[in-house]
Amino acid sequence: MSNTDRQHDVVVWGATGVAGRLVAEYLTEQYTPDTLSLAIGGRDESRLQAIEAEVVGRSDEWETLPIVLGDATEPETLRAMARDAHVVCTTVGPYTKYGTPLVEACVEAGTDYCDLTGEVNWTREMIDQYHDAAVDADARIVHSCGFDSVPADLGTLLAQSFAMAEFGTPCTRARIYLESGSGGVSGGTLASAAELFEAASNDPEVRAVLGNPYSLAPSGERTGVDTGEQRLPRKDPLRPCWTAPSPMAPVNERVVRRSNALLDYPWGRGFRCTEVVPTGPGVGGAASASLVSGGIGLFTLAMSVGPTRSALKRFVFPDPGEGPSEEEMENGRFRVRVRGQGTNEDGPFTVDAVVGADRDPGYGATARMLGESAMCLLEDDTDSPLSGGILTPASAIGEPLAERLRTIGFTASASEATADVDA
Ligand SMILES: NC(=O)c1ccc[n+]([C@@H]2O[C@H](COP(=O)([O-])OP(=O)(O)OC[C@H]3O[C@@H](n4cnc5c(N)ncnc54)[C@H](OP(=O)(O)O)[C@@H]3O)[C@@H](O)[C@H]2O)c1
Repeated sequence: MSNTDRQHDVVVWGATGVAGRLVAEYLTEQYTPDTLSLAIGGRDESRLQAIEAEVVGRSDEWETLPIVLGDATEPETLRAMARDAHVVCTTVGPYTKYGTPLVEACVEAGTDYCDLTGEVNWTREMIDQYHDAAVDADARIVHSCGFDSVPADLGTLLAQSFAMAEFGTPCTRARIYLESGSGGVSGGTLASAAELFEAASNDPEVRAVLGNPYSLAPSGERTGVDTGEQRLPRKDPLRPCWTAPSPMAPVNERVVRRSNALLDYPWGRGFRCTEVVPTGPGVGGAASASLVSGGIGLFTLAMSVGPTRSALKRFVFPDPGEGPSEEEMENGRFRVRVRGQGTNEDGPFTVDAVVGADRDPGYGATARMLGESAMCLLEDDTDSPLSGGILTPASAIGEPLAERLRTIGFTASASEATADVDA
């Protein structure tokens, strides 16, 4: 960005929360004060001071981190934060509840922005309200830079780039497989999920957004060949295994379709994508697919009904601010495979892209994906033609994010699918 009067390169807003604190820790581990002017933000000064002392105490390089106070209920504080930063990286959620004033402030100030939202109803609101203004202001507002939806979005981009380079044409379909994942979940994430279910029960417009596979596409382009997420166990059409519905499909599939649209349909208007959980071959795979499908169905039902949703929030879910244990984070890992299929003059071909890491997906890996997204925006390290708008990771940043993730130990690569891999 050209405005050099801004005091901070990156502000991590939400640093008192589980994800925000991990992002601040990651950025101070990976970068030095010589290369990054980093600040932490939130609404509670004394807790921010305690976090600052702990984060700085873990580092040999950092002696201090400026603190920026900003409260979602006081938009003027967010305007000041946005004016004074090159990039605001926010983990203040649920985004439906707290996110809009910051997006507005960043668009007004022409400030780049990245977040962790998986709340598609809110993303759609941001598109409708701010996309055009963000384009005019050259403000890149990049949603879903965590486990939702970097592996699916970037994996699809890698698979398609490989297909175009090796086979001269993109894949016409992609299946996204959540092959493995272990780690914990925080109160903040469950609160955001509850917010989405509540909005869907109360508001027919939210149900319409969740019912349309193309609801994140640009206005006037919200139709296409995909008809919706897989909802039942199914034998996979591209691999010798059974599959169950993926709980993240409603977010990830829509983000991938928005990437294709924002990049002006390099994968074609007939491109189809589906995200699933592979459960293995044969009778065992079919039984597991039924169990997973049943579990997701029950959870969805419980979250859709007001009294059970309230009971889960009150008695079962951890409170906002509570996160997975150190042990869950340390032993976590994930792998997402995107298998693309296409046809050229020599016949059909298949490609595989894999994005994964030996870290828990929702926190350790998410903090790195979000932190590196912020750094790509700061350093303009993108291969994107887009300089503003309500964007996705693949459309705003693209392959440079994969490159950075590889250098910190992630897998992020694509190849020809030569043999059937274990599901
Ligand atoms: N996509 C992914 O893969 C992924 C992964 C992890 C998290 N997430 C999402 O990221 C968000 C954060 O998750 P989390 O686990 O870090 O939640 P959390 O621990 O509850 O943190 C929420 C943060 O928001 C702040 N906040 C709340 N109200 C505020 C207000 N009025 N003004 C300013 N700040 C306010 C909190 O500050 P106080 O401490 O002062 O209350 C806290 O810093 C959630 O929406 C979650 O769904 C997504």
